[in-house]
Amino acid sequence: MKNIDVCLTPELLHQYELENKIVVVVDILRATSCMVSGLANGVKEIVPVATLEECKALQEAGYLAAAERNGSKAEGFDMGNSPFEYMDEKVKGGKVAVTTTNGTLAISKSLKAKEILIGAFLNLNALANYLKNKEEDIIVLCAGWKGKFNLEDTLFAGALCHQLKSDFEFACDAPLAAEAMYLTARQNMMKYMEDSSHAKRLAKLNVKKDIAYCVQESIYDVIPYLSGKTLLPLVP
Ligand code: MLT
Repeated sequence: MKNIDVCLTPELLHQYELENKIVVVVDILRATSCMVSGLANGVKEIVPVATLEECKALQEAGYLAAAERNGSKAEGFDMGNSPFEYMDEKVKGGKVAVTTTNGTLAISKSLKAKEILIGAFLNLNALANYLKNKEEDIIVLCAGWKGKFNLEDTLFAGALCHQLKSDFEFACDAPLAAEAMYLTARQNMMKYMEDSSHAKRLAKLNVKKDIAYCVQESIYDVIPYLSGKTLLPLVP
């Protein structure tokens, strides 16, 4: 039976075989929520890069450049990492290059996979319905925070595992634990999320409405997929 696994932080990724598998990268606060929102609201393509230098080079090549470090917009770039910036009129039909503290790094570490998809609560049902019909094993890669576990990405992994458990076997205990956390948290997701370390970090930066936005479930059908170096909208 095909199976699903959860890698709780990119620091553990060396323990997983990626070849011939589908990797779903998740960074709820806020990188993958931005990517889904942007492509669902008219952004033409998004190029995720790991470094500020790569993002700057793409800015010079005409891309809109989004750069975030430690929750804040990096100096000299066009956008930070709020999903509301990705739904702004100025980015509609545009091409965006993006670098973030964790999310884009997680994507860059997944390149050996057969298929790389972008997951967020915003496209949960669309992603689960698409994956149900796939034959490959799945790894949900949580971007975490600077190599450490984080709550929100694992909650998403649990939600996806919960939706796929009749089609995929849980490969080890991480999916089991993630699902259990999600089933507890979904009673009051916002309350659960507000206690997360990154939500507190963002609140200190006066970033509040992004959190409520990023925990909405299944408001978009777009599934960003990596084609070469570019994220494009896969509409199942
Ligand atoms: C990240 O990649 O670490 C996050 O997306 C950071 C953020 O947006 O605050």
